[in-house]
Amino acid sequence: MHKLQDILETRDFIMNKTDYRPTIGLILGSGLGTLADEIENPFKIPYSEIPNFAKSGAIGHANELVIGELKGKTVVAMKGRFHYYEGFTLDEVTFPVRVMKALGVEELIITNACGAVNTSFNPEDLMLITDHINLVSTNPLIGPNNDELGTRFPDVSEVYNRNLRNIASKVATEQNISLQEGVYAWWSGPAYETPAEIRMIRTLGADAVGMSTVPEAIVAIHGNMKVLGISCLTNMACGILDQPLNHDEVIEVASRVRTQFVDLIKGVLEEM
Ligand code: 6GU
Repeated sequence: MHKLQDILETRDFIMNKTDYRPTIGLILGSGLGTLADEIENPFKIPYSEIPNFAKSGAIGHANELVIGELKGKTVVAMKGRFHYYEGFTLDEVTFPVRVMKALGVEELIITNACGAVNTSFNPEDLMLITDHINLVSTNPLIGPNNDELGTRFPDVSEVYNRNLRNIASKVATEQNISLQEGVYAWWSGPAYETPAEIRMIRTLGADAVGMSTVPEAIVAIHGNMKVLGISCLTNMACGILDQPLNHDEVIEVASRVRTQFVDLIKGVLEEM
């Protein structure tokens, strides 16, 4: 578990560099980082310059924190995130969430690009995450609990805040965006799932599968934050269509729906 001292050191480092005091956090998934480019008068810090952040080098991500104003709200956005499959520990993956909380963030919007498991969904759909299934045999809260950060056994009966979900549905309707709703399953990756694994995941009750989001959401709940999760379904999961998956396609589709995605999140921010 994270040490309060490290969190506060990172918080102070950021607070000494900017006068912005963000109240809403954004974690931007693969291909969805362009939302950060819409932040007004942005203050940007590369992760490599932030004390206690993991050293990251994944391709396709800008890897910087962007702080500023968006739709009248002060936000802090992660352009690029740390993934478990890259070899980061779950402490490293979720440390930025602790820092956001220490900066004053109470509401966290987590986004991702993922695969559709529900056969009635289509590539390029957006999905409101209603709940999740942790298929990775670990949890970011394993280890001695730090009571200053949260309770030992957090309640997870409503990880994805109902009020924020209602706002997102309402905004989607107003903007004529068809927003699917469903359960997101966390798969460690980096290999995608086999067709048999996708059948298993569907049987277990998931509508989408991806390699992120769940660790960050669990830590946010531990820290008593409100979470909204939005997925961009970039492709049908393995075995649904008779075609192989590739990462370039995932990035390309995510960037094709980026206008809808950006409009949805901006609309949600306006109503928060
Ligand atoms: Cl099909 N699976 C996983 N785990 N992550 C994905 C995906 C599939 N498509 C995009 N990201």
